Amino acid sequence: MSDTPLEKEIRRLIEVAGPMPVARYMTLCLTHPQHGYYVTRDPFGAGGDFTTAPEISQIFGELLGLWALSVWRILGEPDVIRLVEMGPGRGTMMRDALRAAKVLPNFRSALSVHMVEVSPTLERTQRHTLREIELPISWHRHLLEVPEGPTIILANEYIDALPVHQVVRQDTGWHERVIGLDANGDFALGLAPDALPQFDRFLPQKIKDAPVGSIFEWRNDLDVLDISRRVVRNGAALIIDYGHTQSDVGETLQAVNEHEFAHPLSAPGEIDITAHVDFYALGQAAESMGASVQGPVTQAHFLTELGIEPRAHALRKNATPEQAEAITTAVARLTESGKTGMGDLFKVMAICDPKLGPLPGMVPA
Ligand SMILES: C[S@@+](CC[C@H](N)C(=O)[O-])C[C@H]1O[C@@H](n2cnc3c(N)ncnc32)[C@H](O)[C@@H]1O
Repeated sequence: MSDTPLEKEIRRLIEVAGPMPVARYMTLCLTHPQHGYYVTRDPFGAGGDFTTAPEISQIFGELLGLWALSVWRILGEPDVIRLVEMGPGRGTMMRDALRAAKVLPNFRSALSVHMVEVSPTLERTQRHTLREIELPISWHRHLLEVPEGPTIILANEYIDALPVHQVVRQDTGWHERVIGLDANGDFALGLAPDALPQFDRFLPQKIKDAPVGSIFEWRNDLDVLDISRRVVRNGAALIIDYGHTQSDVGETLQAVNEHEFAHPLSAPGEIDITAHVDFYALGQAAESMGASVQGPVTQAHFLTELGIEPRAHALRKNATPEQAEAITTAVARLTESGKTGMGDLFKVMAICDPKLGPLPGMVPA
């Protein structure tokens, strides 16, 4: 095990207070104010740890900009619309979305842009990326800081970075999975001694009946509840992430370092840790706030409905042969299924004001 500054701190916390839930460990690893993974670096791109859809092709952000424009129209073209991005990474998606929004000057002039970002390092990168945009843009640590009003929220690969709890089925009930120290002082996974009281009350029957030893992952709903509360009247949110449409048992917690899988307990603060999104649970949380849920549909379906092919075709017309090939490769990566493509693994879900009809891209095939 490497000896990162955060590792020392977590070890001390465990020595003092006992084993900590996986979710607490993930929070510290990703967003510790000094040593958190996102707080200390820009992890994107070929030289980083992973690549996201907006970094693969400008078309991704452009289509989301056009989606937001259509939703603004569906909302009745309010004079001011808050366009919020949760976890905006390098700011690439917002830059491309705002460029596409130029097609309708009335929409652009109604825009008030809000970036919700926990990392001061990435906030600096985002400010640089958006430096030439002549629109009001503000940065926030939490969605709660964004002023009320008609709102469109975009969140690409945001939820997967939020901490996940793991619970393990035992004869005695569901026990929280925790991280403690073994005899050598290294991190080791274990179980809380007591079962969580009444944990399975809200679980689907399939999970309740899972055999002993099964792992179930769940997230604190707070972020989704905040997003839903914000859009339930005059708003819509688009959640894009990798995950499953039905809640199920199984472990999806994973760590990535320089585009390779790593052990989640290795090098705390130096590697990315994520877990798949449970879209069923997300939808339940949104509906509990009175919001309406559309989808999830696959990313391939969503981008195809929004016109990824015609846009790629238009871009290829003015491109060199090498650029044209790169556009084709990028579109394939965003829409194809299988190991190398994101088309099926990534899902798109809209959470919105129940009075809105079907939103672009969200009607299943
Ligand atoms: C996997 S990256 C995705 C970046 C971007 N959306 C993209 O698609 O390229 C996750 C983003 O969420 C931010 N983030 C992680 N946890 C957060 C939190 N609790 N609050 C706000 N932002 C957070 C990270 O700093 C980063 O910008």
